[in-house]
Amino acid sequence: MKKKMRSLFLPLLACAFAAGLFGLQSNDAARVEEAAARPPSLTEQTVDPAEWGRHFPRQYEDHLRTSELTGTKYGGGGSGSPAANRLEENPRLKILYSGYVFSADYRARRGHAYMLSDQRETLRVKAPFSQSGGCLQCHASNVAVYRNQGIASGAPGTPDEPLTSRNGYDQLMRGFEKVGKMPFDEATKLVNHTLACIDCHDPKNMELRVTRPAFIQGIRALAASEATAAQFPSIEKWRGGNRAEPYDPNAMASRQEKRSFVCGQCHAEYFCNFETTLFYPWNNGLKANEIENYYNSYKFPDGRTFSDWKHENSGAEVLKAQHPEFELWSQGIHSRRGVSCADCHMQSRQEGENRISDHWIRSPLLGKMEACQDCHQSTAEEIRAEVQDIQERTHKMLRRAEDSVVELIRALADARAAGYEDRQLREAQEYQRGAQWRVDFVGSENSMGIHASGEAFRLLTEAMDLAARGRTAVHNIQLR
Ligand code: HEC
Ligand code: HEC
Ligand code: HEC
Ligand code: HEC
Ligand code: HEC
Repeated sequence: MKKKMRSLFLPLLACAFAAGLFGLQSNDAARVEEAAARPPSLTEQTVDPAEWGRHFPRQYEDHLRTSELTGTKYGGGGSGSPAANRLEENPRLKILYSGYVFSADYRARRGHAYMLSDQRETLRVKAPFSQSGGCLQCHASNVAVYRNQGIASGAPGTPDEPLTSRNGYDQLMRGFEKVGKMPFDEATKLVNHTLACIDCHDPKNMELRVTRPAFIQGIRALAASEATAAQFPSIEKWRGGNRAEPYDPNAMASRQEKRSFVCGQCHAEYFCNFETTLFYPWNNGLKANEIENYYNSYKFPDGRTFSDWKHENSGAEVLKAQHPEFELWSQGIHSRRGVSCADCHMQSRQEGENRISDHWIRSPLLGKMEACQDCHQSTAEEIRAEVQDIQERTHKMLRRAEDSVVELIRALADARAAGYEDRQLREAQEYQRGAQWRVDFVGSENSMGIHASGEAFRLLTEAMDLAARGRTAVHNIQLR
């Protein structure tokens, strides 16, 4: 019989808060020490992690281990290279993505060490496809590159001013826009490091900071929206103020919020192409439904309503979700309780005087689940069983929901083959858009439901309902 988690959650809250507070104090002290020992040689232009590693060897060694090939049942890319092929593992995806680049090549993710090479090697960036320099934003260390490019296009100041100064931000944004307009092949030549220390840390004091321009703009738009932001106290606080300055995550977020923001700056839904600068669709909120509303209201410069592509078989204008980890996490119990990405994915350990955060960022299931035990008073096996339970449930539901959308696509394709025109099938195509968005939101999110089990389940249920309505709509047209 399955062991219950019962007990774990009862004494947990008090414990979570206590752990959080103590953690904060001891780590702040450690940080101050680190800062005091801070090497003056690190600057806003020190990109190579090896140079940072001379001063912080533990974190550097961990960081290098992201090149180790790992896999769990639903996580990682497996032990082979290139990473596991998602299209072969799940043939439904080929049908869902028909007519789009993702039907050519779509693999499982793996460690940060591979982000640059995997992007350069995917068929999605090779002819006949063409991608923009926007792709670079989350696959390389690019803070220094963006700033230097920004200065070259006339942004004021020098490259060694703090990133978070007015000039620093200005340089970053201008460079980001410039690089985003380049063809991918040209842009990727500008970078030569994968994720590096400077992408998450201020070289002056090692404080956490976000550096991805689209995140800074996206979270700003979220702050300015009406959407709930209870997970982010600093946004609520900003909303209560005079709003003279836009929300700035680096100046305003708490350390605990930054422990999620540094990950959310890349692990998030986005759009980029040659027509528009890369953006995160958070103007109406972070929920899948709110993002969908934003996309449905978004117009390309030529006036077309937003879609990622037109489905080859069904003719529907559809959406593709991409790794919405930040968004799904934000709808789960952990974010509501203030548990950050780093709390689970960067387990800390004590080494003598120092607290070291594990910079071998990976699936928590590969470790001993000690990070979880900071709060959950149960054995590693019990926690694992609970995770497995949620993942299996989500996986089963996900496949059923995908089947349901595939059936709708087939019904639409059959109707088109029988001579029905897209204008007659529009209602059913709209149902496909909604159903497929929800299915893909859960399937492209990389935790198999763990980051927000209830929300994932809700989305899949809605997807099945929409797909069924779509099939009825096709059927009704054929009866007419
Ligand atoms: C409560 C702990 C917890 C929190 C908080 C959390 N995660 Fe996870 N995450 C997990 C677990 C458990 C998995 C499933 C790992 C697996 O299947 O091997 C996972 C999976 C992932 C994966 C896929 C891992 C892989 O090996 O393929 C990514 C990427 C990820 N999380 C990123 C994030 C980001 C970004 C955040 C914050 C926005 C976050 N996580 C917050 C526990 C957490
Ligand atoms: C610069 C963008 C960026 C940042 C910042 C970032 N990631 Fe990632 N992450 C990626 C990309 C890209 C991949 C996939 C690399 C690949 O498959 O080649 C990835 C992969 C992962 C994986 C899968 C690892 C594996 O071994 O399978 C996990 C887990 C993960 N990230 C968690 C996090 C967490 C937690 C944070 C914050 C502490 C974070 N990431 C910060 C871009 C980023
Ligand atoms: C907003 C940040 C972001 C942007 C922009 C981005 N990626 Fe990624 N990419 C990620 C993250 C995070 C992962 C790891 C999680 C996953 O695989 O879902 C990833 C994984 C990948 C992978 C490995 C898995 C796969 O999908 O086959 C490839 C290849 C890739 N991206 C290519 C691209 C290309 C091409 C572009 C430009 C169209 C791009 N990326 C733009 C964040 C980003
Ligand atoms: C994806 C973001 C990310 C990257 C990249 C990154 N770190 Fe960190 N680092 C963190 C987080 C999160 C913490 C925890 C900070 C806190 O809680 O205040 C941290 C903490 C630290 C600390 C304080 C002590 C500790 O371990 O908690 C040092 C020193 C450090 N990192 C060094 C490095 C070095 C050196 C590199 C490059 C090899 C690096 N970091 C790359 C996110 C990152
Ligand atoms: C800082 C505290 C904290 C940490 C660390 C933490 N959790 Fe949690 N977890 C919570 C809280 C609080 C809840 C909500 C409990 C409740 O309301 O019953 C929760 C709930 C859960 C649930 C039930 C969620 C659901 O959707 O049904 C699972 C599963 C879980 N945690 C797994 C993990 C795993 C796995 C890890 C480590 C990778 C982890 N937790 C780390 C505090 C934490």
